[in-house]
Amino acid sequence: MNHATLQTFLAQSVEKGQLTAPLSALLQSLANTSTLIADTIHQGALGGVLGSAGTENVQGETQKKLDIIANDMLLEALLTTGVVAGMASEEMNDCCPVQNGEHHPYLVLFDPLDGSSNIDVNVSIGTIFSVLPNPGTGPIANASFLQAGTQQLAAGYVVYGPQTSLVLTFGYGVDAFTLDRKSGHFLHTSAQIRIPEHTHEFAINMSNQRHWHEPVQRYIAELLAGKTGPREKNFNMRWIASMVADVHRVLTRGGTFMYPQDTRNPEQAGKLRLMYEANPMSLLVEQAGGKAYAASVRILEIAPTDLHQRCPVMLGSSEEIDIVVEYHQLSSPACL
Ligand code: AHG
Ligand code: MN
Ligand code: MN
Repeated sequence: MNHATLQTFLAQSVEKGQLTAPLSALLQSLANTSTLIADTIHQGALGGVLGSAGTENVQGETQKKLDIIANDMLLEALLTTGVVAGMASEEMNDCCPVQNGEHHPYLVLFDPLDGSSNIDVNVSIGTIFSVLPNPGTGPIANASFLQAGTQQLAAGYVVYGPQTSLVLTFGYGVDAFTLDRKSGHFLHTSAQIRIPEHTHEFAINMSNQRHWHEPVQRYIAELLAGKTGPREKNFNMRWIASMVADVHRVLTRGGTFMYPQDTRNPEQAGKLRLMYEANPMSLLVEQAGGKAYAASVRILEIAPTDLHQRCPVMLGSSEEIDIVVEYHQLSSPACL
């Protein structure tokens, strides 16, 4: 079977008027860089890239060597595209404006290496990216990035697993590409991905159960009750602990993925980051016909106040998200 290359797919999308040439160039650059990151990851212990870097990021998390390597590779590549005005990342306290790039059209946010805890154990990890317009309000600063997810011009991720796959949207559905390691090209392998409305699979870190708020407790208890419970069917659970890999499963065969806020730290709205995890994944999920909520609000409509703010996440098959959102709306006092 003949698969178009990413390059051809992007060129055709430009011809159809779905994508501008500069955005196409930016997406190609992100894809090219991800193939270099994939090569580095595949070297593993042979390349000396496993293990901790001995440093912490802005959220106090220990950085792995690969978190930093992937971050540097993306920064270096995006600096030279000629279309990026600034970049922000999970691994940098503040944004990185591009020198003389103030008038370039795009801002890019990324989680260079998602699922860091899985690096050393050879389980799927990924890179997540979100492209926003340069607001054009002067020099690029952290505030330039504080735009709602609805403003994203493109979003996607690369999952480094048994296959390296790129999943992409620029507002015309979701398409997936598989890296052909022989040619080094991403080839178009799934067009217009749709998330089934109904599912019997969910993903949540059950070890946090005792900390959940009542709406999540109720929803998950009903799933666990199975065929003889109120939902009258059995549910299956998966938790990879790499958002990229868990969301990839949801986009591939349906299901839900949740990382709710819980009672442990009222100041911290869950674990995942809005700008470079929740927003890009929510755009992909919505573009594929699924839903993405932070308790009772649509993630893409959240007005951000901080580059690194966290956000509760519930996304995937629409029937399930509707139910858990309803439980949040019914709860009193309302949970986030
Ligand atoms: P990161 O490695 O970029 O910090 O993200 C890890 C995130 C996400 O990928 C995953 O879903 C979640 O953390 C797993 O958290 P637990 O270890 O609490 O299950
Ligand atoms: Mn992450
Ligand atoms: Mn990360």
